[in-house]
Amino acid sequence: MTKTDDNLAVILRQRPEGLPNPDDFALESRPLGSRSPGQVRCETLYLSLDPYMRSVIAGNHLGHGIDPGEVIPGEVIARVSESDDPNWPVGIAVRCQGGWQQLSDHAPEALSRVPTGLSRPSLALSILGMPGLTAWAGIVDLAKVGEGEVVVIPAAVGGVGAMAAQLSKRAGATTIAITSGSEKCRIAIEELGYDHCIDRNEDDLAEALSAISPQGVSVYFDLVGDPILTTVAQQLSIGGRVVLCGLIKDYNGDHKTTGPHPGLWITKRATVSGLVVYDYEPQRGAFEEEFVPLAEAGKLVGNEEMHDGLETAPEAFCQLMRGRNHGKVVVRVGE
Ligand SMILES: NC(=O)c1ccc[n+]([C@@H]2O[C@H](COP(=O)([O-])OP(=O)(O)OC[C@H]3O[C@@H](n4cnc5c(N)ncnc54)[C@H](OP(=O)(O)O)[C@@H]3O)[C@@H](O)[C@H]2O)c1
Repeated sequence: MTKTDDNLAVILRQRPEGLPNPDDFALESRPLGSRSPGQVRCETLYLSLDPYMRSVIAGNHLGHGIDPGEVIPGEVIARVSESDDPNWPVGIAVRCQGGWQQLSDHAPEALSRVPTGLSRPSLALSILGMPGLTAWAGIVDLAKVGEGEVVVIPAAVGGVGAMAAQLSKRAGATTIAITSGSEKCRIAIEELGYDHCIDRNEDDLAEALSAISPQGVSVYFDLVGDPILTTVAQQLSIGGRVVLCGLIKDYNGDHKTTGPHPGLWITKRATVSGLVVYDYEPQRGAFEEEFVPLAEAGKLVGNEEMHDGLETAPEAFCQLMRGRNHGKVVVRVGE
């Protein structure tokens, strides 16, 4: 029998202007009515917080968005709490677009299994989830990083950057992190295995790059936009590759990346690729098959910044958009 459940949710109170603030969000109890026949009710365990959500709450993420009053969307790991579907029995862990709330109902085709053999389910939101798949798409599929190459990765210790660094090292490349602050540089070098770290707030980026790699940069995995994009692109070696993946600098609406003049790409004989991770869903199974065993064997570092309780999501998201996170931001919503 289906029932009405209390459901705590975070809604958008107002569209932020510039950097988001916690009072742009509100925590509300929104009882969830009876589950419709065929739907599966899920109880959120872990919620992923990601920079793209800034565009969603601005009303424009790849043409989609939400309005004030709506629950903030987001990917979650959840436990099935009510179901009549033998393929999705009560108690199993699933990945779905549950949003910033405790409970959500889904059609079975909107659910995915969390890889079996995963001792830490939240990894399916970080290095083994969407950010990890993004890193694989950029470093392995598009840039085809190889032995002896020099790879530069900004937002170096975040969800995408952490996996991008580890994939680049596995390919035999030298990795250069760009991040902010001494603690993040320590994490980059000591925990994630980068070879070098540049502090974007302290160091002169152009000077630091040419000192570390006078021969230039083979691959730049752009996760942030200008001015870092233009500065690193100017130091590309001939035949260098640039993967355009994120524009966090622009998401708060107070900056517009233009990038380098196209003449630069010509001179460098560069290959520039755009990456949208949704295109890589068909490869997710193979990605999990390859990397879940490595993570379980301790050969990959999953660097999550864990917050406890749904009520912490607005503050954690605002800190993320200020670059103050020290890893992939995940909120533990249930046990
Ligand atoms: N195209 C796709 O399909 C796709 C998929 C996933 C992610 N992405 C993009 O990839 C990027 C990284 O995502 P993530 O989840 O891994 O985030 P993240 O690295 O965990 O967090 C964002 C980081 O961006 C850096 N940052 C913030 N403001 C900045 C600024 N003004 N200038 C330079 N850097 C700034 C900060 O790192 P530091 O303090 O270390 O500089 C911050 O910690 C985002 O732009 C995201 O939108 C794209």
